[in-house]
This record gives sequence, C-alpha cells and structure tokens, in this order.
Amino acid sequence: MEDSRELKAWCLALPKIELHAHLNGSIRNSTLLELARDLGEKGIIVFEDVAHIITNSGRSLSECFMLFDLFHVIATDHDTVTRITKEVVEDFASENVVYLELRTTPKNNESKGMTKRSYMKAVLDGLNAVDAVELVSSPFGKQCLKTAKFSKDQDRKNICVRLILSIDRRETTAAAMETVDLAIELRDLGVVGIDLSGNPLVGNWSTFLPALTYARENGLPVTIHCGEVHNKEEVNAILDFCPDRIGHACFLDEEDWSRLRSPQIPIEICLTSNHKTNCVPSIKDHHFVDLYSINHPMILCTDDPGLFSSSVSNEYYLAATTFELSRSEMYRLAQTATESVFADDAVKCFLREIFEDGKIYQGT
Ligand code: IMP
Ligand code: ZN
Repeated sequence: MEDSRELKAWCLALPKIELHAHLNGSIRNSTLLELARDLGEKGIIVFEDVAHIITNSGRSLSECFMLFDLFHVIATDHDTVTRITKEVVEDFASENVVYLELRTTPKNNESKGMTKRSYMKAVLDGLNAVDAVELVSSPFGKQCLKTAKFSKDQDRKNICVRLILSIDRRETTAAAMETVDLAIELRDLGVVGIDLSGNPLVGNWSTFLPALTYARENGLPVTIHCGEVHNKEEVNAILDFCPDRIGHACFLDEEDWSRLRSPQIPIEICLTSNHKTNCVPSIKDHHFVDLYSINHPMILCTDDPGLFSSSVSNEYYLAATTFELSRSEMYRLAQTATESVFADDAVKCFLREIFEDGKIYQGT
C-alpha cells in the first residue's frame, strides 16, 4: 500500500465538493471550548460540566443530539453565528473544498432577539466576512461567479458556497413552512435547497411533507436524511416523495435499494458519521461498497466534521484505504459529485472546468 502520508497529502490537494455538512456540527472544537469557557465565566453554564462532552470523540447518535442541544445554548447569538460561519467556510476552503453546500436550521431564540430571518442574516454576514479565502459567490451575485477564476496562488484557496436550509424534525408543519418561505426569499442570496434533519426518532413524515412539497413546487431541490434508524414506513414514504438527494441511507432493505436505483437518487455518504453513530457496523461494511459496484451516484461528505473530528480529505482518505480505490477512481468520485450539486448550471459548468483543469491530480 502506498505511503499514507503521501496519500493523505493527495486527498488534501484533491479539489473536493462537500454537499452534506451541518453548520453547527462543523464548529471547531477550539471555538466551542472558548465559547463554553466564556459562558462559564459569565455563570450561564458550568464549564466543567460540558468540557468533557465536547472533547469526547466517541458518541452514539443520541449523545450527538444531546450535544447539539448544548451547541444551541453555546452558539446561539448573532455574532457567534457569524463567527462560526466564517470559520467553518475557512476550514473547508483550507482543505481544497471548491464547492460547499452548507446546511443549517434557521432558529428562533427570543431571549437573544433572534428570528429565523435574523439567524440567516447572521449566517450570510459570516459568509461575507470570509477574508482568508476568496468567496467566489460573494456577495452571492451570479456575475461574480461567471467571471471568477481560481487563483494559481497556492496560499489563496477559493471556495464557492451555497446554503441549504434545514427543517428540524422537532418542528411543526407551520414552522417548516416558515423555513421554506425563508429559503424562497433568500434564493438570490445563495440558498439552493431544503433539508430534513434532526433526531430521526422524533417527528412524523406527514408533518413535514406539506413543506417539502411546497419547496418542490417552488423549484427548490430537497434532500432528506433517510434511514438513520430502522423505519421502513418512513423510508417508503420518502422514496414515494423521490427527493433530489438522500443523506445516509443506512437502514434500507433490498426493495428500498431497487426503488432508489431507478431514478438514480444521489446519496450523500458520510462514512465516519455513520460509523461513529453505529449506523453501520464498520466502515468496511458500509453500503458504499455495493453502491460503488453498481456505479450509483454518491458524494463523500462529512455530515459534522467538528462533532466527529473528521474532514472531507479524511473521508476521501478513508474511502481510498478501506475500499482500495486508486487515485483515478478517487478523482472520478470527486469529479462526479459535480452532477449532484443543487446550484444552477453556471456553477456546474464552473465546477466541471475545475475538474477538467485538474488532470494533474489523477496520478496513478
Ligand atoms: P445546524 O442546523 O447548523 O444547527 O446544525 C446542527 C443540526 O443539524 C442538529 O441540531 C441536527 O438537527 C442536524 N444534524 C446534524 N447531524 C445530524 C445527523 O447525523 N442526523 C440528523 N440530523 C443531524
Ligand atoms: Zn446530516
């Protein structure tokens, strides 16, 4: 097997597309600890109670959701949301993610004077504040995008960012509709789709279906967290809806797989996340193998790089080493993700060009 340092460096240098990353799951641990310490000093939380939860990297799916509740206490005021967004985009750019669809759940937080709209304004401010990288989409104008050229300067990483608004499974139909309305309103500012996420043991599909249908009727593509737990009835209903993409797809049976195959619904694959949350017994046994063998469209993603201590490059490295993929195969995997992005054709063309230019990355 080739030298692991060399392969890691190659995975880092590879241009990558990230389509499934939750903003608050991507917070740097150092930032989370700093914010928690700050709140501890102000007497809002007891720092010692949360420090070990933040630094513990092995968590079950339900522990992850406990941690998200903690994040929401720590990370929910406008300035913090702006800071986190900026840092998260910088982190993705620093590892050669050339296109990022960052998803987040717009939140109301009365005590901080936050509405879903003001939360999104804070996110947009964070995107615009990115200065260590060139935001190709900044300020989300399409003209910017058309003329943008990737810099040859090695220190200057370029990233094109789009947003997906998440509906949390704890929400009501009315709250989910509000999120879709907001996404429609912010479409010209870079919002390209809707996601359904949150604790898979909470909520009913029928609650969210009206909002997801409304999104589709308004031309917004939809991606759904599907099959994170055994729930045949819901998986069936999701496949009836036929989303534009699906996240995870862990607990699916043969019948579900054949339904997924015929419309070729792309799957956002999150190896580390699925393994750490015990959705798959091991990475070696991940359904990636079966999907890869039938050439099903897949995108390697992180889900929550902060929460799971991973990175997009690391997910590529894991796939290469676990499934013994060559550099050409890895390159093709990164390149084909272009066809699954929610952004418009101009962005797709732009990304296709990047990968055409990047023949040097193919290696052997
Ligand atoms: P946010 O939407 O930016 O606040 O990102 C964190 C949120 O994403 C969590 O509170 C969950 O609702 C959702 N999320 C993150 N990871 C997962 C996952 O693995 N399954 C389902 N939902 C998730
Ligand atoms: Zn997710």
